[in-house]
Amino acid sequence: MAFKRKAFFFIFALGIIFLILTVLWDSSSICNLYQKDMAGFRRNSDDFLKLPEIDCSRNAPFLVILVTSRLGQMEARMAIRSTWGKERIIAGKRIVTYFLLGNNSRPYDQIGIITENILYKDIIQKDFMDTYYNLTLKTLMGVEWIHKFCPQSTFVMKTDCDMFVNTYHLTELLLKRNSTTKLFTGSIKMHGHPIRDAKSKWYVSKEEYPGENYPPFASGTGYVLSTDVAREVYVVSKNIPFLKLEDVFVGLCLVEIKIQPEELDSRPTFFASNVPFSPCRYKKIITSHYNTPAQIILYWDGMEKTMDEACPGDLRISGT
Ligand SMILES: *[C@@H]1O[C@H](CO)[C@@H](O)[C@H](O)[C@H]1NC(C)=O
Ligand SMILES: *[C@@H]1O[C@H](CO)[C@@H](O)[C@H](O)[C@H]1NC(C)=O
Ligand SMILES: *[C@@H]1O[C@H](CO)[C@@H](O)[C@H](O)[C@H]1NC(C)=O
Repeated sequence: MAFKRKAFFFIFALGIIFLILTVLWDSSSICNLYQKDMAGFRRNSDDFLKLPEIDCSRNAPFLVILVTSRLGQMEARMAIRSTWGKERIIAGKRIVTYFLLGNNSRPYDQIGIITENILYKDIIQKDFMDTYYNLTLKTLMGVEWIHKFCPQSTFVMKTDCDMFVNTYHLTELLLKRNSTTKLFTGSIKMHGHPIRDAKSKWYVSKEEYPGENYPPFASGTGYVLSTDVAREVYVVSKNIPFLKLEDVFVGLCLVEIKIQPEELDSRPTFFASNVPFSPCRYKKIITSHYNTPAQIILYWDGMEKTMDEACPGDLRISGT
């Protein structure tokens, strides 16, 4: 036993040394690597600093999940990579997940991202300051990437790092819909209006948004667009006055392209709030908010393990 463990650590250490040597092979120091990375930004098409390694024209995914994330949130990204964000085939359909990142002024964070990208190749990054008020830029970067690099995909989801996403139920409902175009869905807010209280996180001044009401939009915690709609959103976004609330901004784009948000199911499935975990409950929802990385892992395992077990609601459906 003890011998086996020693052997394991030996192999593990060798692996690490090999990895470090590989990384250092074409650059004499980490600093060089970083500078090379920053220079690479400029060479990249359309200012993308990082692009995931996928050729959508050869192997188009059914669903691309784009997750807004900050540079320092590696733990959340790791949790997502091992759970709902893991590349998988559901009902014969391929689901892939990428992370949307901006830039900050901490070189250390960027080195972390370089390393993550070498290992996972799932980062989409541009050179804008990564702040809450720049979230709209992040979302636009996501639809730009779809428009330019993955127009062959069928659906796009935009979500966040603290979300639980049930990709099984989402795929099932998307397939049930029988149409792969003209979709915008999520936790829909029909009658939103600007919050004029300067102390609120969602404060919007009259200069930023003069209107009394917001158009219908879906909570930024998780919404799904068919790829045609995502591309149109990108195209019209240039004519829409900038608004820092990315979900409302997307709502304004939808008005322009005449797409109405729709429900994906007769029951609510997208939750912008936290849904207390139970396997049967989670099998029938698409999103739940405010989850720690540990919770995401726990709930995903709990849900997947009981996937084949019957739940109370199933009985009624199969009985009709
Ligand atoms: C992005 O980060 C790098 C390193 O911190 C910095 O040199 C660069 O100016 C940043 N870009 C912007 C737009 O802040
Ligand atoms: C958004 O990013 C741009 C580009 O890096 C930067 O100039 C601007 O200050 C940022 N805005 C906010 C509110 O952080
Ligand atoms: C999708 O097609 C199937 C089979 O033709 C049908 O049973 C189902 O009702 C359709 N669903 C919708 C939402 O139209």
